[in-house]
Amino acid sequence: MKLSNNTRLEVRELTKIFVSGRRKITAVDQVSFEIHEREIVSLVGQSGSGKTTIAHMILNLLKSTSGSIIFDGKDIKDIKKKIYWRNVQGIFQDPFSSFNQFFVVKKVLRDSFKILDKSFNNEEKDKIIIKALESVNIDPGDVLEKYPFELSGGQMQRIMIARIFIIKPKLLIADEPTSMIDSILRANILKLFEKLREKQGTSIMFITHDIGLAYYVSDRIFIMHRGKIVEAGSAEQVIMNPNHTYTKGLIEDVPTLHKEWILTKRS
Ligand SMILES: Nc1ncnc2c1ncn2[C@@H]1O[C@H](COP(=O)(O)OP(=O)(O)O)[C@@H](O)[C@H]1O
Ligand SMILES: [Mg+2]
Repeated sequence: MKLSNNTRLEVRELTKIFVSGRRKITAVDQVSFEIHEREIVSLVGQSGSGKTTIAHMILNLLKSTSGSIIFDGKDIKDIKKKIYWRNVQGIFQDPFSSFNQFFVVKKVLRDSFKILDKSFNNEEKDKIIIKALESVNIDPGDVLEKYPFELSGGQMQRIMIARIFIIKPKLLIADEPTSMIDSILRANILKLFEKLREKQGTSIMFITHDIGLAYYVSDRIFIMHRGKIVEAGSAEQVIMNPNHTYTKGLIEDVPTLHKEWILTKRS
């Protein structure tokens, strides 16, 4: 697929040092990369490598120690949060924690319209909600009147993605969104990312510790190790011809199932 070269997000020498007492942890160390319009990139690394810290800084939930984040040509420090979050949204590992447990799905999804600058009445909202649920292959009748605890992790994760179909951000940061879902459903979630990109032109940063999943879904892969990006390139390049020993180790750990995916994508 042909990619646009317009830069959506640019991260420049981004650093985060956590200070707790006398201890300093450099969670993110001088990281630079860009994400283009309609591009799906994966940030891959083992637990503790700094992935979530980067996600939180890009989502403007956490301040950087130094460096900058430029969205559509503007430093995010100079963009009002409400406007920024209309454009840049996140989904996380545990969809239940992002949901109010006391609200039914209909209420949660109606509330997601609050961030938009246009106002809708409930009837208009519900039409859009139903379309969004259908986009993520959920029968609205199955979920609209249910509370989160009545739904499975896979359903909840798809409802989180339905929210993204409603808000239509330009950039989605998805931080290990499939790690609580079994492997068959995982592929379906990843297909929804492709659909978001196709239908809405969304740029997506997919964060995972699984380089097989990263290969399956992304145009480019960034490998993170101890706070630094140690390797970056097209998905094919990184998987078929890795440069860094750390990347080679990650590839050796890919389970068989994903090796089949790799073959599928190649053919
Ligand atoms: N709020 C925090 N305070 C102190 N250290 C933190 C905090 N958040 C993350 N860290 C540390 O920063 C490093 C990177 O963490 P994280 O970004 O969560 O990695 P990943 O998402 O790749 O597992 C880890 O050493 C972690 O313990
Ligand atoms: Mg994390």
